[in-house]
Formats: sequence, C-alpha cells, structure tokens
Amino acid sequence: MASHCEKHHPHTDSTPHLNGEANTHLPKKPKISSTSISESEIQSEFAHHDPSVARINNGSFGCCPSSVISAQQQWQLKFLRQPDRFYFNDLKKGILESRTIIKNLINAEHIDEVSIVDNATTAAAIVLQKIARDFNEGRFEKGDAAVMLHYAYGAVKKSIEAYVSRAGGYVIEVQLPFPVKSNDEIICEFRKALERGKANGRKVRLAVIDHITSMPCVVIPVKELVKICREEGVDQVFVDAAHAIGCTDIDMQDIGADYYTSNLHKWFFCPPSIAFLYSRRSPGHSDLHHPVVSHEYGNGLAIESAWIGTRDYSAQLVVPSVLNFVNRFEDGIKGIKKRNHEVVVKMGEMLVEAWKTHLGCPPSMCASMIMVGLPSCLGISSESDTLKLRMHLREEFRVEVPIYYRAPRKGETAIVTGYARISHQVYNKFEDYVKFRDAINELVRDGFTCSQLSK
Ligand SMILES: Cc1ncc(COP(=O)(O)O)c(C=O)c1O
Repeated sequence: MASHCEKHHPHTDSTPHLNGEANTHLPKKPKISSTSISESEIQSEFAHHDPSVARINNGSFGCCPSSVISAQQQWQLKFLRQPDRFYFNDLKKGILESRTIIKNLINAEHIDEVSIVDNATTAAAIVLQKIARDFNEGRFEKGDAAVMLHYAYGAVKKSIEAYVSRAGGYVIEVQLPFPVKSNDEIICEFRKALERGKANGRKVRLAVIDHITSMPCVVIPVKELVKICREEGVDQVFVDAAHAIGCTDIDMQDIGADYYTSNLHKWFFCPPSIAFLYSRRSPGHSDLHHPVVSHEYGNGLAIESAWIGTRDYSAQLVVPSVLNFVNRFEDGIKGIKKRNHEVVVKMGEMLVEAWKTHLGCPPSMCASMIMVGLPSCLGISSESDTLKLRMHLREEFRVEVPIYYRAPRKGETAIVTGYARISHQVYNKFEDYVKFRDAINELVRDGFTCSQLSK
C-alpha cells in the first residue's frame, strides 16, 4: 500500500483531526442567525436529491433548490397558459430583470455588457466565432497566435480548434504544473507561453484563461494574467469562468477581461441551463453574435440572445427567485461561498490525513472544490482508469465524485497518480465525505487495483 507511506504534504500540517475512527463527530455547523434558513429547511430544499448518494460533485452539474424549481414551473405554466401574452408582455422584461441582477452581482459597468446564454459552451462559441471572423475578414493575419491553458476545458479546446485553428490561428498551450504550490508558478508559465506566442514577430490575438480550471481544479490568478496580457499587447482576453459565480469572487471592472462567462447552473442554484456572457464595451463589441441567428440579429448580443426562436426560457427567468433563495443564508451568496470554501478545505484535509496523501494545491488556490490525492496503491494509471473507478464508486458505494489522472513525470516514483475533485455545497453533510473516505479505505484494505475493473 504505497500511498499509505506517502510523505505528508506541507499543506496538510494544520489538518484538523476529523478523520480516524475516534473522530466521527460532525464539524460545527456555521452559526446561523435566527433570520437565516434553518438546517431542516436546507434539507427540504434539496429533498429531491437521491438520499442514498454522497453527492460531492456539485462542480459538474450544480444543483437547484425546490423553491427555484417551483418558480421555474410557474414561468413554464405562464407561457403555456397564454403564450402570446407571455411573449409580448413578460419575456423581455423578465430577461432584463435577470440581466440587471447579474450586472450588479458581477459589477459590470453597463447592462449592455451582460447577455444571457444557455451555457459556457455557447458563450465560448460566440467569442471564438468572432475571433474566426477577425481572421477570415483580414483583421488578424494567418499565423497570429492564440494562447490557452493546457488545462482548458475539453469542449472549449475543441471550440478553439473548430474556430481559431481552422481560421489560421496558431494555438499555444500554457503548461501548468500540478500539484501546484503558488500563483507564481502559473504566472511564470503564462509569461513563457506569451513569449513563445510573440516569437518571430507574431502577434498574440487571443488569450483564453480559465478562472477555475475544471480538471485538475485550481483557482487561476486571473486578474494578474489579464494585466500581463495588457502589458504584452494581447488583443483580446476571454475568461472561461464556468464555475465562478457563486464559487469565487468576481468583479468585471477589477478583472478587466474583454469577455467573461460563467454558468449560473453550477454554483448559483439556477436550473439548467443559464450562463452570462460579459463583453466589455469596445469597438468590436457590436460584432458579437449568437450562433443561432433569429429575428434580433444585429440588435446587440444581449437582445439577440434573448430570442433565439421558440423554446423554454424559464431557466433565464428564475434569477430573482435564486437571489431570494441565497439571501435566506447569512451574508447571502458571499456567506455561502465563504463557508463552502472553509468546509471543502477541512474535508480535503480530513481525507488526505486518512489516506496519507496530499492536496493538489494550497487552500488559498481553491474555492468550493479541492483536489485530494488518492492512495497510489489503487493503481490509477490512465484516464480510462479514472472513469472506471468513478463508475465503481457510483455503482458499488453510492459516491459521486470525479477523478483526475496525473501521469508520473520521468524519474518520479511512488507518487500520487489519481486525485478526486471534491465539492462542497450547502446541501452536503460531513457523512458524505466519510462515506467517500470509507469507500476508498475499503478498496485499499481489500487490495483492490483499477486493473481489476473490466474495460
Ligand atoms: C472550465 C469549464 N468551461 C466550460 C464548461 C462547460 O460548461 P457547460 O457544459 O455548462 O457549457 C465547463 C463545465 O464543467 C467547465 O468546467
């Protein structure tokens, strides 16, 4: 059981003693004022979750409380009851109200800068199609560079391939270390990639920067990277912040990117699917278009996106109800974010203490998700192993958690090759993490390795 001999990572030195069998007490619940939502109200808001499952993967698909699901159903009924009235009287007004709430939450300067789209994938297509037009219509030259993180989300990488590479862009990946110890490591690699981008007199036209990378999961020092892009003359900066709103602090004027997108269905309690796309007012701003062209083409992205044909717009209309929901918690969404961060770090530390492994980054570089090293004796040796183990945990132990494969570098021995990304959201309980800990302990005790799982 090699992993149990792993040296402690320095980040785990202050581990609170939540792990071993002697310590099965619940961590103290945050103090909730008398006006705040009660624990039983929280559980009833999420009573539709399968109670047999330890759902410690809010990051992938988020969650939606029942009060918001009811509000969504009201909107759907409103449409079905009298569609014409809904279309002419309610839809535009409702979407504008949601945009206004989002504008205030993200500190955008102007309401025109905020559009609502289905998801981060759609937002990426909008931005990257614009970049493709810049190439195809001669504003950028073939061979000009685009820089993206090696850990960019797979679907966004495909979008860069489909739009930027095909239009003649030269794509450079920023190689990031993992496990990562400091922002400086990221900043240093980013600078190196920009240097490569600018080699031979090339221009760097686009930087795509994640705010919170998906896998492995790390909060990127996005404000610093945007500033470097400005100093180095990068034309456009797109921040893929699919996880950010409700998970980490975001402020459009402070971050200073040209484009910034975040899903509201991950950490902001909206039903699927809704994301905002922020686009800073600039000369190119009016050349952003929704990929689905409809009546509003040419009227600005926010208006185009508010009508892309007949469909269900209810997810875009429940933002005021979500705000009511989060404001039932002490300090609203700010308090939720803070407590999620504190608890996920504690849970991560509890797990690495139990497994004698380490976290993937210091707590200061994570928000409501953290990467937790798995015992190396599990024999995780490929991405396919991570999928098989994930499925095994789902089917045999009722634990829902994504896993990352980190290939050993040359000369590295007995290292952690698998990391679980654990999330914490308001519905989670200490028992969820204990269930995960005990599932892994059982596998280790039984001498399980991934090679035992069928293809
Ligand atoms: C960093 C990142 N970008 C984009 C996406 C895509 O989000 P969606 O599937 O909601 O479009 C995700 C989803 O997990 C993500 O983590």
